[in-house]
Amino acid sequence: MKLGSRQSTLAAAGTVLVCLLSVALARGQAGPEQRPQMAEDVFKNVQVLKGIPVDQFMATMGFFSASLGMSCEDCHSADDRNWEGFAVDNPRKRTARKMITMMAAINRDNFGGRQIVTCYSCHRGGDRPRVTPDLHALYGALPPADPNEVIAQAPGAPSADQVLDKYLQALGGPQRVAALTSFVATGTSAGYGPESEKRPVEIFAKAPGQRTLIIHTSNGDNTTTYDGRAGWIAAPLRPVAVLALTGQELDGARLDGELCFPARIKQALGRWRVGFPATIDDREVDVVQGTTAAGVIATLYFDKETGLLVRMVRYTDSPVGRIPTETDYADYREVSGVKMAYRWTTIWLDGREAFELSEVRPNVPIDAAKFARPAPPAPPAFRPAPR
Ligand code: HEC
Ligand code: HEC
Repeated sequence: MKLGSRQSTLAAAGTVLVCLLSVALARGQAGPEQRPQMAEDVFKNVQVLKGIPVDQFMATMGFFSASLGMSCEDCHSADDRNWEGFAVDNPRKRTARKMITMMAAINRDNFGGRQIVTCYSCHRGGDRPRVTPDLHALYGALPPADPNEVIAQAPGAPSADQVLDKYLQALGGPQRVAALTSFVATGTSAGYGPESEKRPVEIFAKAPGQRTLIIHTSNGDNTTTYDGRAGWIAAPLRPVAVLALTGQELDGARLDGELCFPARIKQALGRWRVGFPATIDDREVDVVQGTTAAGVIATLYFDKETGLLVRMVRYTDSPVGRIPTETDYADYREVSGVKMAYRWTTIWLDGREAFELSEVRPNVPIDAAKFARPAPPAPPAFRPAPR
């Protein structure tokens, strides 16, 4: 799923798994309110990005890669077969560390500490920011306008209620939408790069927002669970085998769960506003934005003609910049009278998954255990030798 080499190993991952298991066991008694695992608890050589949870730390790594057009290996002579290797310093990694401090100083000294300048502001996808304006860019075709992440209510735009009511109507009407209270779905998902083959997928979902998504990858199961209060990602080849989601990452998982049952969509976000219309694939869309309690901003794009949701982009904060995750929905089909997207693609800073459902069973009982904290993924049978 992530960019960069993902062939696995698993001797190394096995070791990580064992020590993380003991961490999990040691903390297990504390209950779900336990302090989230911080980057410096899990990693060996964190000097600047301290005091942030592991999921956010990994997201900042995705942010670096995307901002500089690099893969993990460009700053680390390591890969996911050996997480220890990421702790080793080298000149480029040290430069990157200095840049984090420089960026924070620029924002502190000039912009009142607001996150105005990020790695991307200067780097724009390259290792060395450009110094001289590009004449060809000046006279060439205009690049597509970069939409602002945060929008304000536009004059003359409809209210969010109007757009959301139209959506519920388009799905089959609020009664039928409310009558869908669970489903079990199967299908496939294709990842990015070395994971672009289709793998089997299972989804268990129960209103108002419980959801478990399992991708059966060749390296083991990749499971994302939201149980209505807590959430986890259990995946192979990760520094933490079962990562508890916190803060905005948790809010993102909650949103994904709640959007499976849109009857309560108006409560899923707060501070709704509707911006100027936009176009996606030559179709006009209404642009509706809301914010969750933990501060996740989500922008929903509804096809003006059909009223259906075609895209959601959500943004979570990180110490180095806002992290976008975008999902495009397509192929709406009826499931017990309610339209459901049978295809969707999610892209984020270091990965892509293209989902395709083949079967959806609505309103079936689902064992509560399906939404419990997932087990660490079992290592695959085949273990390539570490490099
Ligand atoms: C532009 C350079 C850069 C890129 C690209 C980058 N990293 Fe890092 N990485 C760093 C820096 C700098 C640190 C140390 C941060 C600190 O000291 O606070 C770090 C630390 C880490 C650590 C902690 C290691 C330890 O035990 O201390 C891990 C794990 C990690 N990176 C993984 C990744 C992964 C996975 C990717 C690709 C998605 C990635 N990095 C991409 C610069 C980079
Ligand atoms: C204010 C502009 C600015 C910002 C913000 C900025 N950089 Fe840089 N960065 C530069 C410039 C300019 C260079 C090239 C320096 C040189 O050539 O000596 C550079 C070089 C680098 C390099 C060395 C690239 C190479 O060729 O090996 C890394 C790595 C890097 N930056 C990482 C980051 C990261 C990570 C961030 C965000 C935390 C960041 N930078 C934010 C301006 C910036």
